[in-house]
Amino acid sequence: MKPVILVTRKLPEAVEERLQRDYQPILNPTDTLYSSEDIIKMAEEADAILPCHTEKFTAEVIERLPERIKAIANFSVGYDHVDVEAARKRGLIVTNTPDVLSDATAELTMMLMLGAARRASEGEKLVRTREWRDWSPSFMVGLQVTGKRLGIVGFGRVGQVVARRARAFDMTIHYHNRNRVDPKLEQGATYHDSVEALMPHCDFLALHCVASPETSGLLNRERIELLPDGAVVVNASRGAVIDDEALIEALKSGKLYAAGLDVFNNEPEINPTYRELDNVFLMPHIGSATRETRDAMGFRALDNLDAIFSGREPGDRVA
Ligand code: DGY
Repeated sequence: MKPVILVTRKLPEAVEERLQRDYQPILNPTDTLYSSEDIIKMAEEADAILPCHTEKFTAEVIERLPERIKAIANFSVGYDHVDVEAARKRGLIVTNTPDVLSDATAELTMMLMLGAARRASEGEKLVRTREWRDWSPSFMVGLQVTGKRLGIVGFGRVGQVVARRARAFDMTIHYHNRNRVDPKLEQGATYHDSVEALMPHCDFLALHCVASPETSGLLNRERIELLPDGAVVVNASRGAVIDDEALIEALKSGKLYAAGLDVFNNEPEINPTYRELDNVFLMPHIGSATRETRDAMGFRALDNLDAIFSGREPGDRVA
């Protein structure tokens, strides 16, 4: 008998084909967003769950999952939606999909920097609403990205690819990470041993740290104050690493020039003030949303399931 996999969202065609070939998947062709109760119920028929970050596996949900469930093989690199401690206690294997989305997320981060600095939201709106009247030397003037200093919080896989892309814009890279990375991987980037020490060196600040209790609200009022006046903040990690009230205040006061945000607290019900600010470039959590990457994320989740069901250690085990 092939193992039964509860797949919570609609996945790319090629990934669902492989699932059909190797497993008995319970698919979600209408891409309905399941509640925790739905998942607990549907899991009665399954041996493992293949969810996205849109499904929350709190300690209570994990506790109530049927005994039969062996693993949660996430279709995401982030796993802050899973209480990994509770999973460990329950003996559940949890995996994620690192590496394969670093390029796509780094591309999106560059887009956030460029979009925020060059006023992409405003410009696009002007053209679409036929309010664009004229060209003038003072029209839609933004900030140049080329040659500026980029500070990166979280110099893991994504952060390092962002640094590489940013170097093509002649940016100077500064970073903070829990631990300094091997100088070979730094490629000339300057390490700062605290977020506070990094802040004054950031014309642009990109957040690429993992969401955890330690990084919750990491970009707060005090740290924003340490940024140079007129800095640009971008976030393609998780909304939880930003204190929204503090960021909005700094965007309104002009302390910050602009922000580019792909992720939000409580998305998609984001803080409504963001929608009212011209100096925010907003995207709907699409960092990994390329055809190539979404296929690769699915295959990576399946590689992990293959390992689990053939008694091997999965490559991307996080619990
Ligand atoms: C990830 O993989 O963590 C992306 O944010 C999508 O969930």
